[in-house]
Amino acid sequence: MKKIAVVWSSPNTDGLTASAKDQFVKGCTDAGAEVQEIHLNRRKIEHCRACGNGWGTCRNEGTCIIKDDFAEIYDQLKEADGIVWISAVYWSDMTECFKAFLDRLRRCDAFCNRSLAEKRCVLIACAGGTGNGTLECLTQLERGIKHMGMRAFDRIPVVRYNRDYMLPALYEGGRTYISSLENGFDMFY
Ligand SMILES: Cc1cc2nc3c(=O)[nH]c(=O)nc-3n(C[C@H](O)[C@H](O)[C@H](O)COP(=O)(O)O)c2cc1C
Repeated sequence: MKKIAVVWSSPNTDGLTASAKDQFVKGCTDAGAEVQEIHLNRRKIEHCRACGNGWGTCRNEGTCIIKDDFAEIYDQLKEADGIVWISAVYWSDMTECFKAFLDRLRRCDAFCNRSLAEKRCVLIACAGGTGNGTLECLTQLERGIKHMGMRAFDRIPVVRYNRDYMLPALYEGGRTYISSLENGFDMFY
């Protein structure tokens, strides 16, 4: 059974982002996966302090000095076979708490631990405004995971105008993602 971590961020638990997350998760669980949801807005995640004149224990020990929920979530991600990253689009980017988490994660994993490298990920950006900035948000998410050597299986833009046809597609996407992980598909690039 594949273990999937779904890291998502929006303050709304019944908005566009939550609906997209629910559909993708349902596709994954219907395909037989075990899913752990990590709702970043409900967790305590401080922003990086850039201690040690820029690099702290993250560079050489792969740990962060801040005592909050970061380390526990990091451990959950290490255990996962696949990671799904879902953010609401704010300012053509991921949300502030998503940024705070990703900033600290890449500092710990990019050089020292490399424990997330080669994990296959799905990126989903949900824009409830004009839809402007959805692709930039996906690009930023992908840049973050690439610094850690993770790979994007898919990059999915959800906007309020495509909601009706994207929600069923997200369900199918979840199913396909799990069967692809089970079949051991290659993603060498
Ligand atoms: C600070 C802020 C910035 C936002 N920036 C954008 C944006 O750049 N593009 C866009 O289409 N929507 C933008 N929105 C709208 C969000 O994408 C919208 O709240 C969306 O529905 C997020 O998903 P939710 O339904 O889960 O809240 C912004 C919202 C906030 C609060």
